[in-house]
Amino acid sequence: MIEIKNLHASVGDTPILKGVNLTINKGEIHAIMGPNGSGKSTLAKVISGHPAFKVTEGEILFEGKDLLVLEPDERSREGIFMAFQYPVEIPGVNNASFLRLAYNALQGHRGLPELSEKEFDVFLREKAKIVDLNPDFLERSVNTGFSGGEKKRNEIVQMAVLDPKLSLLDETDSGLDIDALRIVARGVNELMTSEKAMMVITHYQRLLNYIQPDIIHVMVDGRIVKTGGKELALELEEKGYDWLIEESEGNQDDRCHPKKALCSTSGDA
Ligand SMILES: Nc1ncnc2c1ncn2[C@@H]1O[C@H](COP(=O)(O)OP(=O)(O)OP(=O)(O)O)[C@@H](O)[C@H]1O
Ligand SMILES: [Mg+2]
Repeated sequence: MIEIKNLHASVGDTPILKGVNLTINKGEIHAIMGPNGSGKSTLAKVISGHPAFKVTEGEILFEGKDLLVLEPDERSREGIFMAFQYPVEIPGVNNASFLRLAYNALQGHRGLPELSEKEFDVFLREKAKIVDLNPDFLERSVNTGFSGGEKKRNEIVQMAVLDPKLSLLDETDSGLDIDALRIVARGVNELMTSEKAMMVITHYQRLLNYIQPDIIHVMVDGRIVKTGGKELALELEEKGYDWLIEESEGNQDDRCHPKKALCSTSGDA
């Protein structure tokens, strides 16, 4: 579904992504783990077209089409959805109206009928049930004054409404209590089908007990340095990231890494 090749992206002149390669096929859930500041959120934002980042090299193909030429709203219409690590509050904008606007815009794009306010209300209440979100939150301003966990649930309601092909979930588990984690994970699993794909960014192995990833990637310093199965998350939980950071530094051919004895004595490493 999505093919990312040698992706480099910067903020201003600072490179953040330094050659990401990643392919996610239909029906697959990929987890992205890695230390703080390694570029996980940046990767999700670059896929969704966040204007703060400039792609300096590489390509992203979504269902075979060049994604990088599309604006963020066009990417969303193509079926890409991102649940933010820090969902934004939009004071004064009614949650239900906001979702209906987004939903009807998508329906138009898909050549399907729009829903009236009444019809949408019924539809939305069904979607809110997926993550046990109290319908009162649908009548409030988007995320405004929501608790951390309520915002995360609201993100999944958005996802359920928009029915994306590819969902990018950025630390959807952070700030959730144990019960909420289970509920949100159940919602996410309910929305996953063999025709869809997900990229789930998380720090905790715990989430992966509920949302079963097919593949786990570890990102360090703007690159994916390790890919494995579910057992990799357990290994990380036990060993932390240091061993991978050392490995990745040792593998960078433009860097000399004394611990790995890659520096020759003549200094021409
Ligand atoms: N808009 C921005 N302006 C300047 N620097 C940025 C910006 N966005 C990201 N960065 C920098 O890029 C690096 C990667 O950030 P990113 O948010 O992608 O990390 P992350 O892997 O998601 O970390 P965390 O696990 O803490 O969420 C960090 O050093 C961050 O400070
Ligand atoms: Mg992040």
